[in-house]
Amino acid sequence: MTPAPILRGKRLLLGVTGSIAAYKAADLASKLAQAGAHVDVILTESATKFIAPLTFQSVTGRKAHTDLWGDDAHVIHVGLGESAELLVIAPATADAIAKMAHGLANDLLTLTALAARCPILVAPAMDGGMFEHSATQANLRTLIERDVTVIGPAEGRMASGLMGKGRMVEPNELLGHIRLALGRGGPLAGRRVVVTAGGTQEALDPVRFISNHSSGKQGYAIAQAALDRGAEVTLIAGPNSLPPVVGAVAVNVRSAAEMAEAVLKACADADALIMAAAVADFKPESESEQKIKRGASNGYDLRLTKTVDILMAVAEQKERTGKPTLTVGFAAETQSLIENAREKVFKKKLSLIVANDVSAADAGFFVDTNRVTIVDAGGGASELPLMSKAEVAESVCERIERLLKSKGW
Ligand code: PMT
Repeated sequence: MTPAPILRGKRLLLGVTGSIAAYKAADLASKLAQAGAHVDVILTESATKFIAPLTFQSVTGRKAHTDLWGDDAHVIHVGLGESAELLVIAPATADAIAKMAHGLANDLLTLTALAARCPILVAPAMDGGMFEHSATQANLRTLIERDVTVIGPAEGRMASGLMGKGRMVEPNELLGHIRLALGRGGPLAGRRVVVTAGGTQEALDPVRFISNHSSGKQGYAIAQAALDRGAEVTLIAGPNSLPPVVGAVAVNVRSAAEMAEAVLKACADADALIMAAAVADFKPESESEQKIKRGASNGYDLRLTKTVDILMAVAEQKERTGKPTLTVGFAAETQSLIENAREKVFKKKLSLIVANDVSAADAGFFVDTNRVTIVDAGGGASELPLMSKAEVAESVCERIERLLKSKGW
């Protein structure tokens, strides 16, 4: 996990209760600490039977609290509860949920939960029957009514060996929910941002297609950076193997034509469109209904036609409706990076274009890093050094934020 501005320096409180899923909480604490958050952990007595406080101390670099209270016992819960920006209880047992629902405060964690004035996330973990029990359901409803966010549980195999709904959601998904909670009210709050990612697939027959090497990483990183700033994000993506971005409305498409339809629809009320997708420029002139046979001839002639230019279609829609307010394109170039990017920014009527040299081994398609130059509508170029795709995403979102503000949009 690379440092993330949304988590850097944030004071997070992680409550761990007695479930086998407690080991996943150590992974979560580690990821949060690596991302730059200050993570204070409180373990209930039963949690310490599953995992040692020392595990959390080792991954967070901070003291992990238990019910073995010291001299500061009378104030510690108030201090922890009041200074935290978010309280996450993961895993949360049926017992812990019941105590919270009824305002019980007979251990450090439940005391702190009562003292806390920050948003609370709860990730239940228990056997399926316990989760479905009307008492647990009523307790969860009570928490939700009090604005506690309940995440999961997920379905799958549980410690009892039974299948059902009761597994704590995975740490990466929890991380997404934590970012979402921290980003609420951020500088892009109330803004609708549409992001495209990945490559399109243009079918030749039922088993073959033309595509490219886009992994979707750059687009997904932009969607995450926009969510971190509080935006409402629609992520329109071609086929890829990335985990979903928690909080984004996901629209999965295959071809350029499908992506065009989804983009134009989502842009009808959008403040910004960021086209990081590598959309195919050409598609087979016709798609065979049956698998094309190898046959006896030595070759196969493939005729291609142009696909729809999505950004040009967006420019036309914008002329008619004014939406999206901002349009950001990407330019994937192997030569004359800035000249080609300038040409595209004017031709496609963009607010900005992010140019990347995709012939470099450490930039462009698939890798985790990128080196980009951001070219504005007037042709002004600012070159950024090699950075992670997450950092590029931060820079792009910063520019969008500044543009929306400076133009009074
Ligand atoms: O997904 P990754 O592996 O992380 O790789 C990231 C990336 C290299 C794909 C990304 O950084 C990138 O450069 N995306 C744009 C790729 C591209 O199609 O560039 P282009 O120069 O061919 O197109 C210019 C712009 O027009 C792009 O914003 C593109 O989305 C858009 N376009 C292209 C073709 C088309 N038919 N319609 C379009 O709207």
